[in-house]
Parts: sequence; structure tokens; C-alpha cells
Amino acid sequence: MSDPLLQVRGLSKSFHSGGGFLSRRRSAHVVHEVGFTLARGEVFGLVGESGSGKTTIGRMLLRLIEPDAGDIRFDGVDVRALAADELRRLRRRIQIIFQDPFASLDPRVRIGEAIAAPIRLHGLRPAAQVRDRVMELLDLVGLPPGHAGRFPHEFSGGQRQRVAIARALAVEPELIVCDEPVSALDLSVQAQVINLLSDLRTRLGVSYVFISHDMAVVRHLASHVGVLYAGRMVETGPAAAIFADPRHPYTRMLLAASPSPVPGARRQRAEIRGEPPSPFSAVPGCRFASRCPFVLDACRAAEPPLDAFRDDGHQAACIRAGELAPVRPLSDDESLMSPAYRLRMDLLRQARGTAAPR
Ligand SMILES: Nc1ncnc2c1ncn2[C@@H]1O[C@H](COP(=O)(O)OP(=O)(O)O)[C@@H](O)[C@H]1O
Ligand code: SF4
Ligand SMILES: [Mg+2]
Repeated sequence: MSDPLLQVRGLSKSFHSGGGFLSRRRSAHVVHEVGFTLARGEVFGLVGESGSGKTTIGRMLLRLIEPDAGDIRFDGVDVRALAADELRRLRRRIQIIFQDPFASLDPRVRIGEAIAAPIRLHGLRPAAQVRDRVMELLDLVGLPPGHAGRFPHEFSGGQRQRVAIARALAVEPELIVCDEPVSALDLSVQAQVINLLSDLRTRLGVSYVFISHDMAVVRHLASHVGVLYAGRMVETGPAAAIFADPRHPYTRMLLAASPSPVPGARRQRAEIRGEPPSPFSAVPGCRFASRCPFVLDACRAAEPPLDAFRDDGHQAACIRAGELAPVRPLSDDESLMSPAYRLRMDLLRQARGTAAPR
């Protein structure tokens, strides 16, 4: 990949608590040596359960949280080496939107003004053109320009997320970190906001790091995917490869638990069972072993490295990645089932040993 927009290597973070007079100091290791590369105009989907470290990673990219270790390069610039004023300039080029759009909108400020403020702050338009630019941005995100005088609470959740997107776009960013931007929305509204983000990517060439706990949501947008488990990347690669042939048992579990992306298909969700290991305790070997249907004694000996499974960049951190049965071709009956349901059936068969590993 030539000239990546964003290159992340070895990113790690621990949080510390206690250590006072009465309490023992405890460290939670929440992100372990995470790396990925994002080309300009592409979307990197970062997926994992709640608590897997997604938000921490997203915030470290803008240095809203300082990493303990690792390298972040944005357009060739070493983000961790930037002084305060350079960091401010960088935060125009990288924007972040949150699950709760209220987090970036002041409830007392009319949305037209909320969108205009960053344009003025960064001097992006002459004063006389700011109003027109706000109208243009509202139109771009599918809101009536006449709504500029309203307050955030006068909008629905989906509309409010559109306002947050317009505000992020106001500074003409090259990258937007989207942290679960649709997780709080109804399914039908989720699809609209995802379509909007997809459309903006095509029209404006903006790139995203798109964070979600839901594989189905990521599937619609991501060109590349990283699957995070307990702070570690356990599978990564081109989205097409991961959805067609997931290699890590955890990725398969996430896929099976995701609601069907096929409209009208059976909504059959598998349970995600078990708990990830505590970030306070070091797990010897594979950190997924306690929940993995394919676990062997050898899995607990050493942490499996994130190894290339194929030469298309598809990597999985599982010693059995190469032997798991592929997702099977469909019978006539099964072609009517949702992909999530089929995967779940596969997973059950494999766990029972009725489908022998390849
Ligand atoms: N400021 C903090 N202090 C201590 N622990 C934190 C802090 N922020 C996050 N954590 C812990 O780090 C882990 C990862 O959190 P987070 O990045 O928010 O995960 P996700 O976004 O995937 O749900 C969780 O166990 C969480 O409790
Ligand atoms: S290394 Fe072993 S325990 Fe870990 S995911 Fe692979 S099969 Fe499961
Ligand atoms: Mg989060």
C-alpha cells in the first residue's frame, strides 16, 4: 500500500488505579501492541465486544488519551511527537464522532451556530460565507437547511447524529474516527446513517476508522477489518476475506452473534457466551482459550502471534486458524437463511465435532 493515511504500530495502553495509602496499585492492560494501516479514502472497521479497548484506541489516535507505547503516523507525521500547537492543527484533520451525539453538541447552542463555530475558529471561510457553508453542510448530511435555528433536543437521535457528522465535516477533515456512531439508533435509522457515511466517503474522499461491536454494521462500510479481543488484534485483513472466510474462532462467534444484514431474513442471533479475561490479570497463552470451542493444551502455552494466513494481508492469531473448516457452500434450504444463521450452524457443528477440521 503506497502512502497510507494512517499507520499504527505496537499501540499499547494500561490504566492504573489505587496505589494510595490503603490500596494496592493495580494495572489494567487494555490495549496490547495493536497495529493497522489505513489507505486514503478507505474504511478500517475496528470490531470487538464492549470493553475490548476500541474507544481507548480511537481516542489514542487523536491523543485524547496518551499511549504508553507504539507509533501513530498520520500522513507521514509522527503524531506522538507533536507539540501542543501542532496537535491542535492535527485535530482539524482528524475528527471524532461518538455514540452519543450530545457528547459533541452543547444543548444550549443552536445547531447552525454549533456547525459555524469550528469554521470560524479555523478561518475556513470569510465571515460573509459562513452561513452559506452551514446550509451546504446541513444539506450534505440530509437535513433541511431551515433547521439551523433549532436546538439539539429538537432532533431525533438519527438527525442529531447527522448534525454531529455535519459539525465534524465543517473543518474538512481527512479522517473521521467514528466510535459506535449508530449503536444507539434504531435499526432502520442505523442503515440511513451508515448510507450517509458511505456516501460522504465517496463524495468527499474522507477516510474512517469505524468502531463497532457489531460485525453486521462494519460489513456495510469497511474495506479492511480488525477484530479486537481483550485489547489484542486477533484477526485482521481485507473485509471481503474476513467475512467470506473468518479464521479466528472469536471472529466466527462475533459473526454468528450479529443480526442478519439481509432485510427480511430470519433474525436469529447466537449468544456470545462467557466473559473475556480480566484486564488486571495476565493470561498465559491465547487469551480466547477460556471461551474457545477449539481449545487445545498447546493454546495455553504461548500467546499465538498474529500470523499471515494468506498473502492478501489476512492474518489471524490462532494456532488452529489453518485447520478450521471453511464456511460451507450453501444447500438450497440454507441459501434462504441469513449469513449469520448459517455461520451459527457451522459453529455449532464444529463445536460438536460433526464437521471435522480441514
Ligand atoms: N480511564 C480509564 N481508567 C481505567 N480503566 C479504563 C479507562 N477507560 C477504559 N478503561 C477500561 O479499559 C477497557 C477498555 O475500555 P474501552 O476502550 O472503553 O472499550 P470498548 O470501547 O471496546 O468498550 C475496559 O475494561 C475499561 O473498563
Ligand atoms: S489458539 Fe487455541 S484457544 Fe486460541 S483461538 Fe485458536 S484454537 Fe482457540
Ligand atoms: Mg467504546
